[in-house]
Amino acid sequence: MRSLIDIIDLSTKEIDGLIETANDIIDNPAKYSEKCKGKKLATLFFESSTRTRLSFEAAMMELGGNVIGFSNAGSSSAAKGESVSDTVRTVGCYADIIAMRHPKEGAPTIASMNTAVPLINAGDGGHNHPTQTLTDLLTIHREKGRFDNITVGLCGDLKFGRTVHSLIHALSRYKNVHFVLISPEELTVPEYIIHDILDKKGIKYTVTTSLEEVMPELDILYMTRVQKERFFNETDYVRLKDSYILNMEKLQNAKKDLCIMHPLPRVNEISIQVDKDPRACYFDQVLCGKYIRMALILNLLEVK
Ligand code: NCD
Repeated sequence: MRSLIDIIDLSTKEIDGLIETANDIIDNPAKYSEKCKGKKLATLFFESSTRTRLSFEAAMMELGGNVIGFSNAGSSSAAKGESVSDTVRTVGCYADIIAMRHPKEGAPTIASMNTAVPLINAGDGGHNHPTQTLTDLLTIHREKGRFDNITVGLCGDLKFGRTVHSLIHALSRYKNVHFVLISPEELTVPEYIIHDILDKKGIKYTVTTSLEEVMPELDILYMTRVQKERFFNETDYVRLKDSYILNMEKLQNAKKDLCIMHPLPRVNEISIQVDKDPRACYFDQVLCGKYIRMALILNLLEVK
């Protein structure tokens, strides 16, 4: 029995396998429509979500399985003071696999040690979000056909944005990836990522506050939302929330084959005019999220 807590739990070969399966599901959906017949996925969301929870549920349904769960902590026994460990131990008696999101960093690790079924981290606080990263990798693979020799701009809240942390981990495995880290000084990538991943592996990275200056170099631009719920005070959030707003003017110097990504939800960091530009990939990315989660469920349930 295996869980997915952090993207480093997966080898590069396993990631390649999941991408291959997801692409096969996209091409041959009928082949997969009964693969999880009789199986149940539980979605335990202690923090709000649209795409992650619903894509997990849609994924299980398209595999012929069923779904149980809750979409906020208030409607579970967490509201009565039950521990995460007791909750997942209970749910492990009803479901074959669990997807869990929690505002506390590390909660899914503890949970996975206390349940008899595979557990997937669907986002833990400002820490990790491995299934968003798998989604991002499938999107990049479909758009660019490769993970190496790319310049990836990560823009916005790089401090609290868990999707960015997991994505840096994943892409740092591939050759000649250049990260361009674009953020206000207060929202730069945490020191442990710079030290333990980028510096340690000798990966090329640039730190800047200017999106305009670096735009012409980028193959991928990964925009992110300023993570309001993780700020300690409202004043800092208000001061930083509009730091980067991507519009058509800023895209003037961008590459013709730039791939613009965003894990969503968007607040205002990408103007809606950009949605019509062929370089906007964020809604294709949403769809990739369902297919890669189908591949992941099959893998963790060891369905052939
Ligand atoms: C992200 C998350 O929850 O971390 N959303 C998602 O899962 N697609 C990004 C965000 O909330 O800004």
